[in-house]
Amino acid sequence: MTVESVKPEAPAPASELRVPPLAGGRVPVLGHGLKLVRDPLAFMSGLREHGDVVRLKLGPKTVYAVTTPALTGALALSPDYKIDGPLWESLEGLLGKEGVATANGPRHRRQRRTIQPAFRLDAIPAYGPIMEEEAHALAERWKPGETIECTSESFRVAVRIAARCLLRGEYMDERAERLCVALATVFRGMYRRMVVPLGPLYRLPLPANREFNRALADLHLLVDEIVAERRASGQKPDDLLTALLEAEDENGDPIGEQEIHDQVVAILTPGSETVASTIMWLLQVLAEHPEHADRVRDEVESVTGGRPVAFEDVRKLTHTNNVVVEAMRLRPAVWILTRRAVTDTELGGYRIPAGADIVYSPYAIQRDARSYADNLEFDPDRWLPERAKDVPKYAMSPFSVGNRKCPSDHFSMAQLSLITAAVATAYRFEQVPGSDDTTRVGITLRPHELLLRPVRR
Ligand code: HEM
Repeated sequence: MTVESVKPEAPAPASELRVPPLAGGRVPVLGHGLKLVRDPLAFMSGLREHGDVVRLKLGPKTVYAVTTPALTGALALSPDYKIDGPLWESLEGLLGKEGVATANGPRHRRQRRTIQPAFRLDAIPAYGPIMEEEAHALAERWKPGETIECTSESFRVAVRIAARCLLRGEYMDERAERLCVALATVFRGMYRRMVVPLGPLYRLPLPANREFNRALADLHLLVDEIVAERRASGQKPDDLLTALLEAEDENGDPIGEQEIHDQVVAILTPGSETVASTIMWLLQVLAEHPEHADRVRDEVESVTGGRPVAFEDVRKLTHTNNVVVEAMRLRPAVWILTRRAVTDTELGGYRIPAGADIVYSPYAIQRDARSYADNLEFDPDRWLPERAKDVPKYAMSPFSVGNRKCPSDHFSMAQLSLITAAVATAYRFEQVPGSDDTTRVGITLRPHELLLRPVRR
């Protein structure tokens, strides 16, 4: 999964461009909004039946949806679109306006240059010891027979790895615990505020609003503390935080305090929620597919000879890696993405006017029967080289492509494979009564409430 470049096809002359068909199933006033809110995954998955590019009516607004792998790749790689739109605006209001995830143009390019070295393939081995320590600590925290609350456990390890690897420091251990609590609450409230934008209602002194505001304030305070302590220590370890503190803007001046703050938030927030949700699905997969859990264990043992799995082993763990990729195919943490057209443009011969909002769903793309045989089957062997070559281009891009591609693909894959290897070697897993592994749609996809019992191998 690397950045791929394509030679853009010559666009059709403007006079030949078609208007995308209107998707069926809309109702008066609300348009398609009702279906989108009621069952967003089924709705997005059904859109390809209506066309490669379709128009949706969300209340009075027209939104464009792209439904084929090739066109999602073309969209992500085209300079005619930027990150913007209502979802991003509500994110900016909560998390800050100056971070890499919401910036565009020259500022975004400069910010990517600053953060990229911390995520390069050759930078990842330096994180190996922390990833190893956290993966084994996770398995050791669990006691056979006791119930694991997978949501909090997954969140905890994801935040700890991101914070300890990218913002090194003695103090990080305790801070990571506080960050977990703050981020978990912020994410819960944020999704609600994004999909149901009832502005004034969220300012009422209700318990849920107070809890959300406290968590958001704590998140920002923690980030300020982390930055201040690093500065006071006078130390400059080779990490992301040092890169941010030493970054310069387009004029060669140091970047402002607000931008440093927003950058840390913009990296920690997507970094923890996405990895945490993926770990939850990996645990669910290990419980639901014991045959693959056993194959992971056998593979790890054949590589390690029985010693604890190490970071260096990961690249030899082919099946483990395929289990991770297949889990991400069926339950992509990032299930919906949006862009806004900056100019009158086209996609697949359809006219896209300047200012149009465009959505697509990696969930729908990665489950499409046109791209995958037995599309809903959990089959990690479909990623063996002889079979993977048949997967259409861009039909599996959980980290996206182009200039907004996740900087953290190598960082994420390394920790996900290591965690899967460590926990599957130590335990078998069973769901316990009360566990609910149905899909909960939020900013990411995760199980509603996954509760597992570990059984010592
Ligand atoms: C962007 C997925 C983990 C930091 C993205 C995007 C996707 C994605 C699809 C592109 C969004 C778009 O096109 O609009 C994932 C998945 C992850 C993961 C599936 C793990 C399973 C992480 C981690 C970090 C991170 C661990 C940081 C520690 C970011 C940042 C961006 C981003 C900063 C914004 C990049 C930009 O706009 O230039 N991620 N991500 N992600 N991700 Fe990740």
